Amino acid sequence: MKRFWVAIGCVLFGLALIVPARVRGAAGVPSTHDEPHMEMTIRLPAQSGDRERAAAILDAARRVMALYPTVESAERAGFKKFAPNVKLPMEHYTSGAYARESWLGRFDLDHPTSLLFKRTPDGLKITGVMYTASNKIDEAQLNERIPLSVGTWHRHINYCAAPAGTPLADQMPPNGRFGFAGSIATAVPCAAAGGKFSPVIFGWMLHVWPNETDPSKIWAVDMDGDMHHRGASNAGMLGNRVAYNGLPIPLDRLPSQKIDAGDATRGALIFAQNCQSCHGIDGRNGPDAPVLAGAGIAPGQVAYMVRHPQAIDSSSDMPVIPIDERELADVAAFVAGLR
Ligand code: HEC
Repeated sequence: MKRFWVAIGCVLFGLALIVPARVRGAAGVPSTHDEPHMEMTIRLPAQSGDRERAAAILDAARRVMALYPTVESAERAGFKKFAPNVKLPMEHYTSGAYARESWLGRFDLDHPTSLLFKRTPDGLKITGVMYTASNKIDEAQLNERIPLSVGTWHRHINYCAAPAGTPLADQMPPNGRFGFAGSIATAVPCAAAGGKFSPVIFGWMLHVWPNETDPSKIWAVDMDGDMHHRGASNAGMLGNRVAYNGLPIPLDRLPSQKIDAGDATRGALIFAQNCQSCHGIDGRNGPDAPVLAGAGIAPGQVAYMVRHPQAIDSSSDMPVIPIDERELADVAAFVAGLR
């Protein structure tokens, strides 16, 4: 038994070594790179049987979601939160066992690598699943797992890992230099900043959101910009957004409350954790809420809206968000400063 684990360890270590060398186009998967940190497969024309296969995938995803309705049930089954120290609008709970299985080529629809929990005012809600595949497989093998006419596989590219001790704000949007959405996306500046550069991290990933009704949302790479993917460049990501034309509550009708001067840098993180899922990255491209960037909202007005979202419009969809006074001041400073 012990030898078995040692062997597995060697295989995984070996794979880890092979990954950076083999990925660059080795498998020749047709893809787009029009975002600095993301590579996505290109939609292919439908082949016969794709529809039935897509339906079977959704059935499997729903089956899995029913098994793990809560974070506690997921944790009992060995799923662990990715990035345990950061609170994200969409949390990935990942199974090491299922990740290895997929990496080694055994693809099982009932064994998704991650469960996706959305942060809502009532806590974390199971919303989708994520399947993964090794970087070494080719187009036909990706298509065999999930039809390329239906789903979009993606992987994270040009990743600059922050050196130890880097503050979280420097690893997160909107101002971070490092990480999944950092401003650094090439090797030389990454090294100059003390980071460690990888052309590709992790393998291919595919998100499925079976509770959505619109197919472009069911197979969207990104749910509502929640995973910090900057800028949408794929039909699935553009989805069907509620079109807001300006602020629903005109600023001359939005009262202001007294609020301390806040720290906009800290506020950026509060925003990413509490507001971004609706208002979008930097308050710019919200799927479910108006654009806040450049709207000229005063810090006191932001604070008032967060504390009393239904005071002006009783049918407002904005929830009361439980943040303390310090966080309120910080997020108000951040939003007021968005250009
Ligand atoms: C669940 C979605 C959701 C979340 C989360 C959310 N908002 Fe909103 N927000 C809305 C909606 C919807 C509106 C539009 C207002 C309306 O319909 O009354 C809005 C409006 C606003 C407005 C402008 C009001 C106006 O029209 O003049 C501000 C400012 C605002 N939100 C700030 C925030 C901040 C700051 C956070 C995080 C602390 C946040 N929101 C989190 C949905 C959300």
